[in-house]
Amino acid sequence: MVEIAPSILAADFTRLGEQIAAVEEGGAAYVHVDVMDGHFVPNITVGPFIVQAVRRITKLPIDCHLMIEDPDKYIGEFARAGANMISVHPEATSHLHRTIGFIRQAGCRAGVVLNPATPLSAIEEIVKDVDYVLLMSVNPGFGGQQFIMSSLNKLQRLRALLQSCGSQARIEIDGGISAENAAVVAGAGAEILVAGSAIFGQASPAKAVQQMLQVVTEAQRV
Ligand code: DX5
Ligand code: ZN
Repeated sequence: MVEIAPSILAADFTRLGEQIAAVEEGGAAYVHVDVMDGHFVPNITVGPFIVQAVRRITKLPIDCHLMIEDPDKYIGEFARAGANMISVHPEATSHLHRTIGFIRQAGCRAGVVLNPATPLSAIEEIVKDVDYVLLMSVNPGFGGQQFIMSSLNKLQRLRALLQSCGSQARIEIDGGISAENAAVVAGAGAEILVAGSAIFGQASPAKAVQQMLQVVTEAQRV
């Protein structure tokens, strides 16, 4: 089943509660929180404090995408703030296997993230130990960028890699996802679709989630 994880990066933060309630009503499966530190990526966003606030207003699992250097320092804090899923970039940590262990010890599902130029081989040794792989289909740092087309081929190769390793990890895709390409990315093997501007940039975020789910369900029926 394909699920939608709206990224609050594109939400109106003056009405965050309302906006999250809307996507929840529309059928979103997770709330995706993009954490950026101005070092690993050229943008600064939010920290555990916002995760704590989001935790108070939704029952949906919180999916924290950490785009920060040395994530080990903050995993405990994000978990205590209410994160259910935490993903990290291999380039941001010296000991990825240990970092994944810290996420699990903190009681969260652990994910590893692939940047557009990071080869699949960077995660080959860890795929058996993660709950999900997040494939970036834009360079991380900003919402509203264009989907990088070569991500489709990478997605298919990632699906094959997981199968060949006997990994149960789910595939999440992030960046430039919209109702126009949702069916194609789902067809190529993505199971969790992150979308920011295509959802919160619409007049009705609830309808935008419904529509994306509908597009994917219809495509899977044929
Ligand atoms: C980019 C973030 C994405 C971003 C997606 O660094 O990881 O989650 O919010 O935004 P859209 O859907 O607008 O590309
Ligand atoms: Zn993200």
